Amino acid sequence: MAMDWVRPAANPSNGWIVCRIRIRENDVSDSQLIFPKGFVWGAATASYQIEGAWDQEGKGESIWDRFSHTPGNVENGDTGDVACDHYHRWLEDVALMKELGLDAYRFSISWPRILPEGRGDINQAGIDFYSRLVDALLDAGIVPYATLYHWDLPQALQDEGGWPLRRIVEAFTEFMDVASRALGDRVKHWITLNEPWVSAFIGYREGRHAPGHTDLGEALAASHHLLLSHGLAVPVIRANCPDADVGIALNLTPQEPASLSAADRKESTWVDGYINRWFLDPLVGRGYPQDIVNSFGNEMEFVQTGDLDSIAIPVDFLGVNYYTRGIARSTDIDEADNEPCTVIPSDEITAMDWEVYPLGIYNILGRLHFDYAFPAIYITENGAAFPDEVGPDGRVDDPARLAYIKRHLEMVHKAINIGVPVKGYFAWSLLDNFEWGFGYSKRFGIVYVDYQTQQRTPKFSASWYREVIRRNGIDTMA
Ligand code: FCB
Repeated sequence: MAMDWVRPAANPSNGWIVCRIRIRENDVSDSQLIFPKGFVWGAATASYQIEGAWDQEGKGESIWDRFSHTPGNVENGDTGDVACDHYHRWLEDVALMKELGLDAYRFSISWPRILPEGRGDINQAGIDFYSRLVDALLDAGIVPYATLYHWDLPQALQDEGGWPLRRIVEAFTEFMDVASRALGDRVKHWITLNEPWVSAFIGYREGRHAPGHTDLGEALAASHHLLLSHGLAVPVIRANCPDADVGIALNLTPQEPASLSAADRKESTWVDGYINRWFLDPLVGRGYPQDIVNSFGNEMEFVQTGDLDSIAIPVDFLGVNYYTRGIARSTDIDEADNEPCTVIPSDEITAMDWEVYPLGIYNILGRLHFDYAFPAIYITENGAAFPDEVGPDGRVDDPARLAYIKRHLEMVHKAINIGVPVKGYFAWSLLDNFEWGFGYSKRFGIVYVDYQTQQRTPKFSASWYREVIRRNGIDTMA
């Protein structure tokens, strides 16, 4: 595919000033932030969000197929039935990645595409799909990073009870085994789970994601079985692929109290425990945070002897998905009696209504390193949705996304400078795609997708990112 990397003209209509990219070969001055040699530059996607072909060539139904086919669950009635049609356009997409100069590509493996019933019969067509994809990536010089579970549980397993029931752990181990046996000769980087907090608490407590349940007890059990599945999967992957690097990707959202009042600080500690520590602590052998366990008042009888040791198996890396921070405001006390907020969110927000807060990625990276000491960290997701449009000249000018990524990369660089072992960065996302409950209404891609024609158009941020990769760094003055 031929692509034109000339930058688009500044867009006076929306008031944004388009940054000027200065190409200065071999001129490394103070304005250049150069990343460590071997830093991995990538982009990420997930199976349900891009593949489509939801019922083709033997694929089983997933909980997201069922959820999106149920009216009222997804904005505009959107489904992942076709999505970016990546199942048929994977070769074109790999060519696009090569044009972008990506070192690595993070994708996920659809469990029901290779095990339609969740366990038992293997769908060879599904295995072949991922195998061809991996071969094409390697041919293009792009290192595959495979996520095993990015939320598309086989519906057959949900029909048995899903993540809240312990028997799912065995099925997950089987899935890991099948996937790592088939691909482990070529895939050397494995991410067991993507954001187990979202799977457990948004899927089983808040009901905004598949399977749409609203039961705290189920969510807590689900979170434990997700973590246990991770812990038991790691040795299986290592057995099938001895030189594998294995990790887990967490959504980590640093919290700050809205004021220094005791109530707000308490709330902030609670939210941090609920979203961040609930997963981080057991992974490093500290068990579930007691303050949060107490607040739930749940017996946690699903935690059996030995589970916490299995969960605490050392990983090769932690994947960090960072988008924004949280500002915690207590609702326990009357607003009028509360102290005025001293932490005011910036008015820079994305189409998700998420505050743009680059400092948060620095803060969380520092904490992960100094408090949890993971041996290596990848930013497995970072990016932003904005209401992109194709201009009259056919280009997609997205300076706000470019600025978002650039400012976060500056903070990642700063974190590396204080010793945090960040080994790579994956932009979310390679392509505009199905954004879960928001359907196609939110565009996160550095490549624009026209869902009518399936035409891919690299946005301005993609051409800028290509330069970042080429120079292994960013020009802060650009
Ligand atoms: C993360 C998900 C990813 C995408 C981004 C915006 O929570 O892992 O699939 O939806 O948010």
